[in-house]
Amino acid sequence: MIDMHSHILYGIDDGSRTREESIELLKFLEKQGVTESIVTPHYIDDTQFVASIEKKKELIRDLQKETNIKLYIGNEVYFSDKTIESLNSKKLSTLNDSKYILIEFPLSNRIKDVDEMVYDLSTNGVIPIIAHPERYLYVQEDYKYLDKLVEIGALFQVNYGSIIGTYGSKVEKTAKTLLKKGYISFLGSDIHRIDKPIDLEKAMKKLKKIVKKQEIVDDLTYNNIKKIINNESL
Ligand SMILES: [Fe+2]
Repeated sequence: MIDMHSHILYGIDDGSRTREESIELLKFLEKQGVTESIVTPHYIDDTQFVASIEKKKELIRDLQKETNIKLYIGNEVYFSDKTIESLNSKKLSTLNDSKYILIEFPLSNRIKDVDEMVYDLSTNGVIPIIAHPERYLYVQEDYKYLDKLVEIGALFQVNYGSIIGTYGSKVEKTAKTLLKKGYISFLGSDIHRIDKPIDLEKAMKKLKKIVKKQEIVDDLTYNNIKKIINNESL
């Protein structure tokens, strides 16, 4: 599988703490069947989670020597009214510098006028991929919240952990609903630390049961992410 969401670069967010931990995480992911990985440290304006592109490239160069997993640059961008400015001033990374950006929303409070803000992003030439919508309370309450985002071209990524209960039963149920209804284009590990591993193999089996067809599993875990890496349309 190709992973498109992880916090395995050390020392720049709440993910991996040390070089050793990053190497452990990469070994773990490789054992679970990951062959390529877009690394996506948090980017949150006005916090300490704002590592520069150069810093991320330096960490990727360093870790690439230690793993067979092909690494690509990215960010998980906490959505705010500064996101477009930060994007245009090259403070943050899209996924492998493609037209796709991984966006995170607040867990419990919905953003007012979210569709207008996301639309602004798409008029700037980028396609928003919303990270783990199943974890947002307002999506758990009403998944149709996502419909207006679908209309303006947003895509969605579910966490592997969500479908095996890592974040509780409400998240699991919402993830299943979104997968069955066809909202989801990608799966991602969102792995942070070696003491909080994600059983990707178990999640893959569960995924097959949820979506039924192997072609859909392949699209969600490999083909669609390969298209992002190659900056192709889905
Ligand atoms: Fe994340």
